[in-house]
Amino acid sequence: MGSKRVSIHGQWSSRWAFILAATGSAVGLGNIWKFPYITGENGGGAFVLVYLICIALIGIPIMMAEVMLGRRGRQSPVNTMEMLAVEAGHRPYWKWLGWLGVIAGFLILSYYSVIAGWALAYVFRTAFGVFTLATPDGVSSIFSDFIGAPEGLLFWHTLFMLMTMIVVARGVRGGLEKVVKFLMPGLFIMLVVLVGYAMNSGEFSRGLDFLFYPDFSKITRDGVLIAMGHAFFTLSLGMGAIMVYGSYLPSHASIARTSVMIALADTLVALMAGMVIFPVVFANNLEPGVGPGLIFQTLPLAFGHMPGGVFFGTLFFILLTFAAWSSSISLIEPAVACLVENRGVSRIHAAVTMGILCWLFGLLTVFSFNIWADFAPLGMFEHFEGKTLFDLLDYLTSNIMLPLGGLLIAIFAAWIMKCEASRDELELGEGFAYMSWRFLVRYITPIAVMIVFLRAIEVI
Ligand code: TRP
Repeated sequence: MGSKRVSIHGQWSSRWAFILAATGSAVGLGNIWKFPYITGENGGGAFVLVYLICIALIGIPIMMAEVMLGRRGRQSPVNTMEMLAVEAGHRPYWKWLGWLGVIAGFLILSYYSVIAGWALAYVFRTAFGVFTLATPDGVSSIFSDFIGAPEGLLFWHTLFMLMTMIVVARGVRGGLEKVVKFLMPGLFIMLVVLVGYAMNSGEFSRGLDFLFYPDFSKITRDGVLIAMGHAFFTLSLGMGAIMVYGSYLPSHASIARTSVMIALADTLVALMAGMVIFPVVFANNLEPGVGPGLIFQTLPLAFGHMPGGVFFGTLFFILLTFAAWSSSISLIEPAVACLVENRGVSRIHAAVTMGILCWLFGLLTVFSFNIWADFAPLGMFEHFEGKTLFDLLDYLTSNIMLPLGGLLIAIFAAWIMKCEASRDELELGEGFAYMSWRFLVRYITPIAVMIVFLRAIEVI
């Protein structure tokens, strides 16, 4: 059945449009930029295993919960949470969960846009053949020179933020839906081509070993927290992005099936990115743990030495930019929807205001790689030693705000919301499928998130 409400912001034209938009949100820098570098920093296989377990046990059930809440409420996360809480006979304070999400999205976009700017800049570098036959050292120094100068980063960050603002201003169908329709298939085909390249020219089996052979001595408590945080990040969970996309979902679509498809597609893209990058890393004696620059120091090498590398390299960075683009719009959509609903401003006005604020905040990240590279605001704590503002923003959002948001979403969906309401919206019947979802969201997911949290702060 589902509820009969409709969103004032419009609706996806079909279930497929939602799947593409949500996959577009999920697949982004998280898969191709972040997943490989945090896997490299945290020792490989064991980290990947923990990450996969988190996707299955925490990610998919929470994704279903988020889409379900969004479609039930049909408003921005702030108003959806408030309304659903009141509907379930509780106080309206759950709206603060919506605000937590709006703020998390804002903070993430502020640095996401800077990194997406790197991808944009690399489109042109590759197109002009800068990396043709370059050496590993050459590629690394091009990268460090690039991030060492704030002007360039600022330029690309500005451009990317403008691109995001334009799509969001054009609305759900006219903007968001149009962009994602042809991007995702293109990105996937490119990855297949690159995996083929890595198979033939990289140290493919060493790369696979690193990615899939779990060496548990390499994983730390913080590593487990990072893996869990990344499961939220890569599936766009815990901050209302998927909730707001769910609020535009037509009533009859199956939430369970779409969620599983989105999670599988996202995981596949991340693993393929790993299969491209690590063989190149090992074939060139590079270090897998170099951090955020990893793909910018490895992929150009691969492109620089493969036939047609200028063409493929350019295309790849274009697609990476597109993938980031279809994600960035979902980071800001909850805030925009909320401004439109609560302040009565136009969509364009809301998109421009939020975009400018976010751009300003992004300066913290821009400077983290150059003039403030040695500034570690929390350096007095051993745990945060040497962490720049960018590192801290990433840590705060991915490892704390998203899991916390996800935990509260699970608690709300399984403990606060009436059973009849969630059953009605999920349309899974009353049997095994619904009961297993409820069991996961009621017990497994919250307990798992809490254990990882408590272990990370060394309470247990
Ligand atoms: N999932 C995206 C990626 O992997 C990033 C992203 C988009 C996101 N929307 C989000 C992360 C909402 C957290 C929450 O690149």
